[in-house]
Amino acid sequence: MSSSSSPIVVLDIGASKVHCLVGEAEPSGDCKILGMGISPCRGIRRSAVIDMPRVVESIRNAVAEAERTAGLRITGAYAGIAGHDVQAHSSRSAVAISGSSEPIDERDVQRALAAAEQAAPPAQAVALHRFVQSYAVDGEPVQNPLWLHGHKLEVETLSATASEHACTTLRRAAEEAGVTIVGFLVETVANASAILSIDEREMGVGLLDIGAGTCDLALYHGSLRHLAEIPFGGQDITRDLSMVLNISPREAEQLKCEHGGVCTDASEADEAVTFRTTAGRSHTILREQLDAIIEARQQEIFEFVGREIERSGQGHLLAAGVVFTGGGALLRNIDRLAEDVLGLPVRIGEPCEMIAADALHGPACATGIGLLRFATESAAELVPTHDSGRPGRPRFLDRVARLFSFL
Ligand SMILES: Nc1ncnc2c1ncn2[C@@H]1O[C@H](COP(=O)(O)OP(=O)(O)OP(=O)(O)O)[C@@H](O)[C@H]1O
Ligand SMILES: [Mg+2]
Repeated sequence: MSSSSSPIVVLDIGASKVHCLVGEAEPSGDCKILGMGISPCRGIRRSAVIDMPRVVESIRNAVAEAERTAGLRITGAYAGIAGHDVQAHSSRSAVAISGSSEPIDERDVQRALAAAEQAAPPAQAVALHRFVQSYAVDGEPVQNPLWLHGHKLEVETLSATASEHACTTLRRAAEEAGVTIVGFLVETVANASAILSIDEREMGVGLLDIGAGTCDLALYHGSLRHLAEIPFGGQDITRDLSMVLNISPREAEQLKCEHGGVCTDASEADEAVTFRTTAGRSHTILREQLDAIIEARQQEIFEFVGREIERSGQGHLLAAGVVFTGGGALLRNIDRLAEDVLGLPVRIGEPCEMIAADALHGPACATGIGLLRFATESAAELVPTHDSGRPGRPRFLDRVARLFSFL
């Protein structure tokens, strides 16, 4: 499964479900889904494994279903990683340019990038992806240092890192389920490649993955600028409903997904919504009462998101607003509430350029699709070709190899 000409397998091990997808890159550039499996997961709290056997069981079920639908045996997969185990760290490096009569060439740029990579990630963390933030020649910021003259080239990079401990735990869980993890990918970084347009990234945009256990935020302005986790998600809303209405978590989840929303329209405010309490009694409340419980928590989550954007110092650069993904983005009118709280335009993102059944097109499957798109695109670049000896090739392979940082 690890050969680039073979289908690629990805695992999204989330707080509510494990999603396993098998796909391959089409010559058109689209990503074709060959099989998928999904299995509820109750062994993760926020983003931490709290019950390994349950996580193993979910991975095993999701992989078995993906094997059945794809008609393939799965042995290896890329795994997404998210939550508080993922962080962003910036580093700077400077290299001297010899012979000021010669302009800066590709080798100088590569030396500067290599020096930035030497900057060790924080203890017990591993760098999975690196992004150039800025270049400067003799202290003057430039967009591209190639062919400029100067004595000193500086580069600032941002690395997306994952905690070694989290990688080890996920790898062990997958191995118990019979799958070798061949690489880890930061979920919001992978998601961005499937959901954000190049224009949005250039203009400045946020990506918010609203999951069950956490919300994961990535801010782009040209390049990736900031990563953060907000330790709340859809499960918190479900828990509120369960406690306030005295209903089981299962009933609360169903009530939320079928009838829940925010910013209730006046025309539907007094619609009756019926549910069953844990005592077995049937109860009816108005839709606006149900929505008020949900909105209180969702608003609080967006306030945390807003504070995180403010803290990043990037808020004024998000001209394209924020794009939502994850199952939590399916909440009715969620974009309206978010626009009020964040003061930014919001759209619900869908993975594009893929060939898949309708069931995979919503935001709830976006992370799996994003992982698959990212892995297939990058793995395709590793195909040995007859021109693999040309000068630019080894550097590119290096870059891709780094992207995947086989741990
Ligand atoms: N129609 C809906 N309305 C409101 N919430 C929904 C709806 N559909 C799904 N959700 C919520 O989305 C969440 C699941 O989303 P998702 O599958 O993206 O989470 P996850 O990837 O398992 O979790 P995490 O990313 O936090 O690890 C659940 O909390 C679920 O209640
Ligand atoms: Mg998720």
